[in-house]
Amino acid sequence: MSQKDSFSARAIRAGYNSADHFNSVNPPIYQTASFDLIDIDRTRRLWTGAEAGGIYSRVGNPTGGILEARIAELEGGQAAVALSSGMAAMTYTLLLLGQGGGNIVSGSSLYGAAMLNLLKFLPNYGITTKFVEDRNDPSAYEKLIDDNTKAIYLESISNPNIELYDIDAISAIAHKHNVPVVVDNTVATPYLYRPFEHGADIVIYSATKEINGHGNTIAGLVVEKGGFPYDEKKFPQFYTKEWKMRDLQDNKRTPAEFIPGAPLIASLKIFFTEFFGGALGSFESYMVLQGLSTLTVRLDKKIQTTRKIVDYLDSRSDVEFVRYPYARGNKYKELADRDFPLGPGALLSFGFTGSREQEGIFIKSLNNFSYHVNIGDVRSLITNPPENTHCELEHEYHVLADIPANLIRLSIGLEDPEDLIADLEQAFDKAKKG
Ligand SMILES: Cc1ncc(COP(=O)(O)O)c(C=O)c1O
Repeated sequence: MSQKDSFSARAIRAGYNSADHFNSVNPPIYQTASFDLIDIDRTRRLWTGAEAGGIYSRVGNPTGGILEARIAELEGGQAAVALSSGMAAMTYTLLLLGQGGGNIVSGSSLYGAAMLNLLKFLPNYGITTKFVEDRNDPSAYEKLIDDNTKAIYLESISNPNIELYDIDAISAIAHKHNVPVVVDNTVATPYLYRPFEHGADIVIYSATKEINGHGNTIAGLVVEKGGFPYDEKKFPQFYTKEWKMRDLQDNKRTPAEFIPGAPLIASLKIFFTEFFGGALGSFESYMVLQGLSTLTVRLDKKIQTTRKIVDYLDSRSDVEFVRYPYARGNKYKELADRDFPLGPGALLSFGFTGSREQEGIFIKSLNNFSYHVNIGDVRSLITNPPENTHCELEHEYHVLADIPANLIRLSIGLEDPEDLIADLEQAFDKAKKG
């Protein structure tokens, strides 16, 4: 494939050559725990990376390898690793960058478990987080960076507030201090936004969401742009010569030598999947590859529908606010115009006016929106984040993340907009009657 091919063409074919797989048109599902090593010389070549091939599926599988190559190409990155969930992608990445202890500087509008991870779990391993006061002000990130800052962490389209950030400006500041920028690009996908083109260094995904797009698989991805000048004192893990990364002549190598330019992915592949497990299974890899091939048509339709739903909600006097860059008066419109020419995704949220009971009736009355915590499905979905996806965060963090008690989140699916608007309308009517 060539970079000149359209995104759609590359989403279907990149990273796969059927001639390497018995001319199978579809990437095969390599459903096996282990692979024949053949002979002792080949074994040595496999272990030193001199020959590519399967060894054991805990540490990687050829179906996952196709997905890794495809996402790295779509993202414009050097290398990628496919993991068993989006949370594995986040936690592995930050545990590795924060090895030996350190801090993360983060925006505070994040998926609930991601925020809880930063607040309560990673500190157990010596990695703390400083949340910026004004996450829309790039200079606020600079104020919190210190000698022990190991990463800046952001969501490109935040869940559930649909906030956008000037990642170009934030990355420029981070790079002044030699700090890598990690972006969770789950809601945007590389079709709508490619963080590396805006200065980010590492992209993570919950591929469970829009990339797979069918609500039937849990998966995560990490992609490294390549070439970040990791400081040797701050990140010695990327400069340590390892026997486990030796070459065919038994010379120990550093992660930076093992996959030139992508030491983070080298370390995740060689150490994290080896010791934590969590490489993405072959069936899940296949499902994500299949979903990815229709990403562009799904998002094109969903974005058009989302704009209509936003206009409909904006027109209702009983909706307290609508959060989407093209909602009335939204402060992210300018950034959306600049950075998201194809549209800022298919997720939106709004403020429900009425009692908790009425909110319950509204949600229960919907026929074309499923009530659950996922996003990025073919089905339209609804949830009330304060009571589920973000309910494990204490009240003060709801305030910090700007998640009011009446917040409702919609993930728009592939139904026609008329069906969805009619459905919302009848549910609002029922809720009003009580
Ligand atoms: C923005 C975002 N990032 C990460 C995750 C975690 O992904 P997973 O559920 O695949 O572990 C989610 C899950 O909802 C999410 O919405």
